[in-house]
Amino acid sequence: MNQKKSFYIKTFGCQMNVRDSEIIAQSLIESGYQISSDMNTASLIVINTCAIRAKAEQKVYSLLGSLRKNKKQNDGLKICVAGCVAQQEAEQIIRRMKHVDLVVGTQHIYHIPELLARSAETPIVTKLDNAYHIPRYLPDKRSLNKSSSALPYGSSRFVTIMQGCNNFCTYCVVPYTRGREFSRMAEDIVEEVAYYIEAGVTEITLLGQNVNSYGKTNPVLADGKTISFAQLLKNISALDGLRRLRFTTSNPNDLSDELIACFSELPNLCPQFHLPVQSGSNTILKKMNRKYTLETYLDRVEKLHAVSPKIALSTDIIIGFPGETEDDFQQTMALLERVKFHGSFSFKYSDRRGTRAEKLFPKVAEKEKGRRLNIFQNRQNEISLERNREYVGKRLELLVEKICTDGFVGRTSTNHLVHVKSGEHSPAPGDYIMVEIISAGRHSLLGSV
Ligand code: 5AD
Ligand code: SF4
Repeated sequence: MNQKKSFYIKTFGCQMNVRDSEIIAQSLIESGYQISSDMNTASLIVINTCAIRAKAEQKVYSLLGSLRKNKKQNDGLKICVAGCVAQQEAEQIIRRMKHVDLVVGTQHIYHIPELLARSAETPIVTKLDNAYHIPRYLPDKRSLNKSSSALPYGSSRFVTIMQGCNNFCTYCVVPYTRGREFSRMAEDIVEEVAYYIEAGVTEITLLGQNVNSYGKTNPVLADGKTISFAQLLKNISALDGLRRLRFTTSNPNDLSDELIACFSELPNLCPQFHLPVQSGSNTILKKMNRKYTLETYLDRVEKLHAVSPKIALSTDIIIGFPGETEDDFQQTMALLERVKFHGSFSFKYSDRRGTRAEKLFPKVAEKEKGRRLNIFQNRQNEISLERNREYVGKRLELLVEKICTDGFVGRTSTNHLVHVKSGEHSPAPGDYIMVEIISAGRHSLLGSV
């Protein structure tokens, strides 16, 4: 075992979890732990989990199962399960996985060091609070485990602006794992972004389960007043030195004209929008409790294209929601043809415990879900390729992310990955560089300086 207490974190799930893991890492470092990149020698393993679909949850259980032998080999090893599965399945984890020392719900990640010190008495800490306050957490660069970059925080960072969700889409576990919606104080958010910019960060992605409702369920200004998400974007966009601003995720239901207008008004707001639609059928949207119709969705898409013709749209699709007929599925396909999303994340519907959709019937057979998913993904791949080909011959600015042996990889403002073969130019991560797109694949572009 290591002399000094060390920890290893494994993160599953969304960007919010990535950000939470940074916070966990920092709080551990502040209490004397050292970060480790080796799960087998660390004295503490933290698993930050995702519950969004059954598959994500299975991965957690299988990793936990395999850690039994680590615990046997290393008696002093502590294992902590955090995040969304921890929130939902705490009792089951403790019952099935006797080698787990601590289960920490989504609102308690800030206290892992203290909780570990008394984990023998209270191995489960998962109480969800309605007015949950996200503390200010300016990350310590030692918690980031980044070695080579000259920029301590890299060039891109996530900033959480709100937590939880009040939408209760019938398939979704998030309202149960993350609790009620709560927005952070605007001043804290701006301060966090300014702190990053000072350290060399030039790209910020604002995170929330539904950023459109920022400031709607609690005041976000010190004087008890509130501001909209669009106003928050404007305040952040105006910070000197911020070259790229992004956000995720939005519900089409409360996407305001004020927010849409930001895409023409704010020069550093990237022309990219992830707008999950989930289904192209109004019958299914209703059963999902999405609170918008296909027509409203298309209207928002049209408005976005009108203010920002170059905007790259992406979406999430659930295939095989209970009751989805072939006709409903064909309507999703028709939506895909109509919008021609640059990309999409599509998933087979997965029953989640405690959600309303769990009790909706008839379920679509697994095999049929697979068949429909295949059809959808094949067509999306073709469309992504078509969309990507539209960039060939264009000159685009890249933010360099990674240097490889034969060149580098960067991202466009539309969030496309571009591989560039090295020529005379050898940029560093964090540099901005103009390239010409010379060819397009389904998932990335090829450029030359
Ligand atoms: N089954 C399948 N996909 C789901 N998602 C959320 N819940 C489920 C579920 N029960 C998808 C949605 C969401 C994305 C993050 O995950 O498409 O937008
Ligand atoms: Fe997964 Fe949702 Fe939790 Fe993120 S918030 S980790 S996507 S269940």
